[in-house]
Amino acid sequence: MDEKIALFTIFGGTGDLAKRKLYPSLFRLYQKGLLKEHFAVIGTARREWTDDYYREIVQDTIKDLNGTQEEITAFASHFYYQAHNVNDSENYDTLKALSDELNNRYQLEGNHIYYLAMAPQFFGTIVRHLKSQNILTEEGFDRLIIEKPFGADYNSANELNEEIRAVFPEKDIFRIDHYLGKEMIQNISAIRFANNIFESQWNNRYIDNVQITFSECLGVEDRGGYYDHSGALKDMVQNHILQVVALLAMEPPVAFSEAEIRSEKVKALKAIRLYSEEEALQNFVRGQYGAGKIEDNQYIDYRAEPHVHENSQIETFVAGKFLIDNFRWSGVPFYIRTGKRMTEKGTRINIVFKQVPVNVFRRDCDENIEKTDLPPNVLTIYIQPTEGFSLTLNGKEIGQGFTTSPAKLDFRHSAETTANSPEAYEKLLLDGLNGDGTNFSHWDEVAQSWRIIDIIRQAWDKTPVAFPNYAAGTMGPEAAFDLLAQDGFHWEWQPDTWYRERG
Ligand code: BG6
Repeated sequence: MDEKIALFTIFGGTGDLAKRKLYPSLFRLYQKGLLKEHFAVIGTARREWTDDYYREIVQDTIKDLNGTQEEITAFASHFYYQAHNVNDSENYDTLKALSDELNNRYQLEGNHIYYLAMAPQFFGTIVRHLKSQNILTEEGFDRLIIEKPFGADYNSANELNEEIRAVFPEKDIFRIDHYLGKEMIQNISAIRFANNIFESQWNNRYIDNVQITFSECLGVEDRGGYYDHSGALKDMVQNHILQVVALLAMEPPVAFSEAEIRSEKVKALKAIRLYSEEEALQNFVRGQYGAGKIEDNQYIDYRAEPHVHENSQIETFVAGKFLIDNFRWSGVPFYIRTGKRMTEKGTRINIVFKQVPVNVFRRDCDENIEKTDLPPNVLTIYIQPTEGFSLTLNGKEIGQGFTTSPAKLDFRHSAETTANSPEAYEKLLLDGLNGDGTNFSHWDEVAQSWRIIDIIRQAWDKTPVAFPNYAAGTMGPEAAFDLLAQDGFHWEWQPDTWYRERG
């Protein structure tokens, strides 16, 4: 691939995201020759740093990435720092002067990517100033990459969107959902549309239910201030999980292009049933963790975490059931669950197929014959920590008699295959440089997902519950298990440690 040419201005350049994700990803692009001579990065934040100090910080974030010192120093020399108050117009004038200078020095052809990696309340003022202070060029491109959260509900998201769209056209807005950059999330489309054996079965005639689990061991770390306003529903379900539901549920696009995929995803999201508040309470379960152990570590209550209200009603766990009212999915529940401080980090999707119509092996007269129902075929997509997919089938056990047992066809990416594979942010930055919005959230998707989420949040806000209701190190409150049990299903996946602890 050719060298990409651009100036990045990172608002929030001293922040955690920039250090953990953006600088390492830019460095990987540099190591692959996708960024070479013609790029520069301006980091902005409130504090007063020099270019030298900033470059030291950048170097520190990539020191473990197998680069030579020479490579690391050369990469860091493209970085410039500017102390910046986002509300101060004069600061944008200085930013413009620096941008123009770097544009000339590195021959950047006027290509500019603005990356908003800071609190969303500043997004509006930043884009307004980019326009009013004439920073946007007529040359090259001006693209905006925005971190989540995009709004706190439909109304605030819509307001923010209008502010941004007053300056940038939709095609130049790249709303990050980092899950869309993950290898196995991108693989959902390959599994579906490159394998006739699945796509022909991918509907309510053959699929019983779909289960999506995003479990985390992490707590809220130092993000209590943000999280205690957001909660798991807005932090994970509104964006990442609904994006995955859309990818699983959409119709095959007529071409694998941004516009066609987007149009199918939006249609799938629009088909998700909008519950009444009462239905939302029946179909969605919330949890908040109390103290507990994960492996040998003891953890405190969510309510005791820094910057969390002592009587917080914010959920650290959600389980729920989405229903999709269209021909393909009518009657097939999509169960989802996600939470902090659960037993294990595990992101996976289970597609549970319907059982065979008759179990011909079940003959009560013969004692040697299996008497239970045949388990369903399950297609599992492993997103992380391991990546791959598996399919459970029923086969005959070797030997006399006729007993069936499940056998698993299992494909996992090996450490060798994943060692050099790009990380989510690296892929997304490259997509941004290429102007490809396929793996970003379009406003139509964001708008629809907020409509779905707002009802659940409103219903919850009106009905406080007794928290905490699950202990750290478990798979959430009992109600999350009852949610499936009442439909005659169970979660197909639990971590091994969960089984061990329950004997
Ligand atoms: C983020 C959430 O979007 O995703 C975090 O804000 C969460 O709360 C994170 O921990 C999970 O992402 P990953 O890639 O670690 O699974």
